[in-house]
Amino acid sequence: MTTASPPMPKAPGSWPLLGHAIPLLRDNLAFIASLRAYGPLVEIRLQPQQPTVVVNDPALIRTMLVDAAPTLDKGRFFEKMGQLLGDSVVTAAGTEHVRKRRQLQPAFRQTEITRYVDLMREQVTAALADWRPGQVLDVREVMVKLSLDMLASTVFSGSIDGHAFQRLRRDLSVVMNGVGTRIMLPDWAERLPLPANRRFTAARDAVRATIDAAVAELRASERDTGDMLSLLLRATDEYTGRPLTSYQICSEILTLAVAGTETTASVLSWILYELARAPEIDARLQTELTDVLGERPVTFDDLPRLPYLNRVIQEATRLHHTGWLVTRRTLEPLRLGDWDIPAGTELAYCQHALHRDPSLFPDPLTFDPDRWLDTAQPPPTGAFLPFGAGKHKCIGDRFALTELATAIATITREIRLELPPGRTVQPVARATVRPRTLLMTVRPRERAGAAAGA
Ligand code: HEM
Repeated sequence: MTTASPPMPKAPGSWPLLGHAIPLLRDNLAFIASLRAYGPLVEIRLQPQQPTVVVNDPALIRTMLVDAAPTLDKGRFFEKMGQLLGDSVVTAAGTEHVRKRRQLQPAFRQTEITRYVDLMREQVTAALADWRPGQVLDVREVMVKLSLDMLASTVFSGSIDGHAFQRLRRDLSVVMNGVGTRIMLPDWAERLPLPANRRFTAARDAVRATIDAAVAELRASERDTGDMLSLLLRATDEYTGRPLTSYQICSEILTLAVAGTETTASVLSWILYELARAPEIDARLQTELTDVLGERPVTFDDLPRLPYLNRVIQEATRLHHTGWLVTRRTLEPLRLGDWDIPAGTELAYCQHALHRDPSLFPDPLTFDPDRWLDTAQPPPTGAFLPFGAGKHKCIGDRFALTELATAIATITREIRLELPPGRTVQPVARATVRPRTLLMTVRPRERAGAAAGA
């Protein structure tokens, strides 16, 4: 028999028409982090009339993502994503989700990932060729471009031309920022005739038009480019037996571009930032790369033989996680810890705050790749969720880790990116958490010196 629910703590600062929009707009990361003080569950208002229960406790987060998953819909964050993406693997739940996920899975098989490393490295090498010693890079912008190029060359190579890509990059960034803002604001604010709302709508329509044109072109040419777009063009809807419509294909491709670009770009940027701030970590990494690779470029087989690089990446996905509000919605009553949650309740959790909780990670704000050496004391279950858990766990997890390792191994052997002395960069949360502005100067790498200094 279950006991009665204790009262749910409520975060202060909610306003009648705005809910918690003011503290969220002022500093959403600080607001969400402050919620951890209220215990395992706490109620906030994203919609004035509807509570959202933020789940803080790692074990309960895991229950939500894994055990309770069959009884949950995806909730507000993904509804907002759906305004951009249409119905896709990210927004779908239940059997619809299983079906959509199965359609995409072949592109993420181990054999495909093995093949992708050379393609990813070629894109990194091409980017490096454009950077000049002394040049100041807007690192996040450059990494968004690189991530999109790596994704494009692997999962939708050959199907979208260079001009289309430039447009796509520009429009996607407007849309991603818009989605991030819309999560924090009550729904009525989206309908106001504001320039920001008009820009969002125009960019969203432009993204669709670009991808639609590529789908139409590929369909007409009947080419098989061997990539994700071709795969989806050949796929049939399990229920109707008909080919997928251009709209459906467009939604899936768009999802991958959104889910797989901003995330990887942010983590890449943060790794380069942390390496610039910690010369001893940078030197150890260079020693490992030199020992394992010598003078040759990194390949798929090298990746498991680079444990320090893998720890640097793992630590970056802890300290600088890109997720700040992942949502679900109860379809039926749910018992979560001591609480009875009614059907129709919004649930949410925040990886960024979870991964920085001092009760789960000692000295949490220090970037310390060696914390992962202590295998005797791993973080509690549910405390470290870089790619989520359960049936919605990131489909691109191995893809992302492979591209992060390939990119960092390739970039850092050629150049160092330098920060002005003493510069710290703050995170900002839009659709994902990313560095506010990260300007770094390109310096050639003196390989022998780096190895000797390590
Ligand atoms: C460092 C980079 C990445 C991080 C931190 C990340 C993180 C995540 C997380 C936490 C989820 C689970 C969301 C939930 O619980 O609802 C997720 C889902 C997803 N990710 Fe990633 N991701 C990354 C890269 C990628 C890449 C490269 C791709 C594709 C090329 C991708 C595609 C997806 C898709 C399609 C889903 C939805 C899966 C489903 O609902 O079945 N992600 N990602």
